[in-house]
Amino acid sequence: MAKKYFITTPIYYVNSVPHIGTALTTLAADVTARYQKMRGREVFFLTGTDENGTKVKEAAEKAGKDPMAFVDEISAKFREIWPGLYIEFDDFIRTTEPRHFATVQEFFRILQSKGHIYSGTYEGWYDVGSETFFKETDLVDGKSPDGNEVRWVKEDNYFFRMSAFADQLLAHIEANPKFILPESRKNEVVSFIKQGLRDVCISRTNPGWGIPVPGDESQVVYVWFDALINYVAATGWPKPGWEAYWPAEVEWMGKDILTRFHATLWPAMLMGVGLPLPETLVGHSWLLMGGEKISKSKGNVVAPLDLAKELAERSGCSDAVAIDAVRYYMAAILPIETDAVFTNDEFDRKYNNDLANDLGNALNRSLAMSHKFVGGAIPDAAVEAQAVEAVALAKSRYEAAMADFRVNDAADAALGVVRFLNKYIDTRAPWALAKAGDPALPSVMRSMLTCLRAAEGLIRPIMPKTADEVASQLGLPALTDWDRIGDESSLPAGVALLQPKPIFPRLDLTKKDEPKKMEPTKTQTPTPKPALTPDEPAIEISIEEFAKVKLKVGRVLEAEPVEGSDKLVKLQVVIGSDRRQIVAGIRKNYTAEDLIGRQVIVCVNLKPAKLRGVESQGMLLAAIDTDGGAILLQPEREAPEGAGVR
Ligand code: MSP
Repeated sequence: MAKKYFITTPIYYVNSVPHIGTALTTLAADVTARYQKMRGREVFFLTGTDENGTKVKEAAEKAGKDPMAFVDEISAKFREIWPGLYIEFDDFIRTTEPRHFATVQEFFRILQSKGHIYSGTYEGWYDVGSETFFKETDLVDGKSPDGNEVRWVKEDNYFFRMSAFADQLLAHIEANPKFILPESRKNEVVSFIKQGLRDVCISRTNPGWGIPVPGDESQVVYVWFDALINYVAATGWPKPGWEAYWPAEVEWMGKDILTRFHATLWPAMLMGVGLPLPETLVGHSWLLMGGEKISKSKGNVVAPLDLAKELAERSGCSDAVAIDAVRYYMAAILPIETDAVFTNDEFDRKYNNDLANDLGNALNRSLAMSHKFVGGAIPDAAVEAQAVEAVALAKSRYEAAMADFRVNDAADAALGVVRFLNKYIDTRAPWALAKAGDPALPSVMRSMLTCLRAAEGLIRPIMPKTADEVASQLGLPALTDWDRIGDESSLPAGVALLQPKPIFPRLDLTKKDEPKKMEPTKTQTPTPKPALTPDEPAIEISIEEFAKVKLKVGRVLEAEPVEGSDKLVKLQVVIGSDRRQIVAGIRKNYTAEDLIGRQVIVCVNLKPAKLRGVESQGMLLAAIDTDGGAILLQPEREAPEGAGVR
């Protein structure tokens, strides 16, 4: 059987349900899995729950529940929540399952028979929060280095001779530059080992909860020793067939559980038993909120599905797209070396900038212009060199990022092709080519669609449902084969494109800020009086009179400054099947780049007028800013081209 590409997440303590911090690790693993599948690998993606610790037992007691009933309930929540975030795991292991018990006991027996386990007395501190033993000298102000309460324990236990593996571990790290990523964290691990590895206490007095030590029911296996073995238990080891899974290609985790556990204890255990080590361990950084790690115990949790639900409500995007937007946010900010900070504002900003403005606009503009200029079908023409290069560059940047598990850089590479596409549209200006009857038009349109098709493939591991939506608007089946990204065959000429359907309606961020309004203080500058205030006397008109004003939705195709004026911009605006030249005094507030592709509200039955000698065949509607500047009115979400406005 061909070796599967084996990806693991840590198994989660079942004392609470997932939050955006824990979801980060699982999302990173899911993006890796989806990317590898697109590259043709057969993937085995494992996640699960860690259920045997003191922490879990005490959480059950606190909840007044039987531990088994408690872990069944919370573990089921993890299993349900992950698919809700489109996490596609292949196996879900629980450490209370018989298959896990059997493997842990077998592991213990082998290490014992090889002389790596001995009996002794443990005396020291124990941190239930992180299920870690600490020496007096490790404590900071009487607490664990993570700030958790510690308790003193003195017990007769079993010890694992980890000190014996220090040299072998250092040699392995040295010989395998990608064993621990990122590089900075590898250096931390190396100095931790060089400070001297201590033997590890690997059992606790049996509290009636946990995996009994084989041959000694008075003890249970220490929860970290037990939990780490889950990765091998899921392969079926020691039963035949495990070699098709083990070793894992990548084990994803947060930095807090890398040095002491995954990069020292775990490889030493594997060396002791005689199993190969995982190829790569990735220890990403944390997501912080209010200056602290997001965690249940700190009470600062954000549930990813709630975030998605709220986004769908506020923006009007579909539930599926909202979930993808949360996935995109987590991938794009995935902290590698340094911690990242979660704020609602940053989440909204990324949604509006990267998804609504960049991706959403690129899709709408490309499709709308294809309908306008090349009959709504994929043209049969050569792709321009700059588009070919942009796609190749984004793809190779993405691959290089994923080779080092830098999911954040991969997300940026995917958006790179979208940003290129928007600039390409602005500079190649298909509307101008159409007007001039330039023969390059079909090539330019095909180049745009090529970028869009590539973007669909590149975003797929991160935003699978959005990628499906882009493919469907292109009238094409999903692009799921990585090698075909950028390939001519992925964009068959003649296929009919759908009318653009906006995926990411913009969030109105001014609304959200309202509750934050502060009382003005004496030192604040008074707000300047608007140029036109609502209380200025207005002449009453009848509905019939108002109906005489014909307002329509248009889209700006071209924008250029009017020579000799620092206020005026000349625009070419399509209004359904009509096209108008409009001169507007908005240059102070908008650049050509801001305007091209934007939907605007146009008064279409205003008598044409000449401004600075240039004819204007309509007027754009705008709100007047406090300084007299223009704030263009725009439909709250994409409106049908040429739609009437009342
Ligand atoms: N049960 C152990 C893992 C055993 S693996 C053999 C455990 N569980 S945990 O539920 O506490 O944490 C699981 C993972 O979530 C860890 O990788 C941890 O780093 C990650 N995170 C928890 N909160 C996080 C943030 N706020 N930010 C980033 N990662 C976070 O440890």
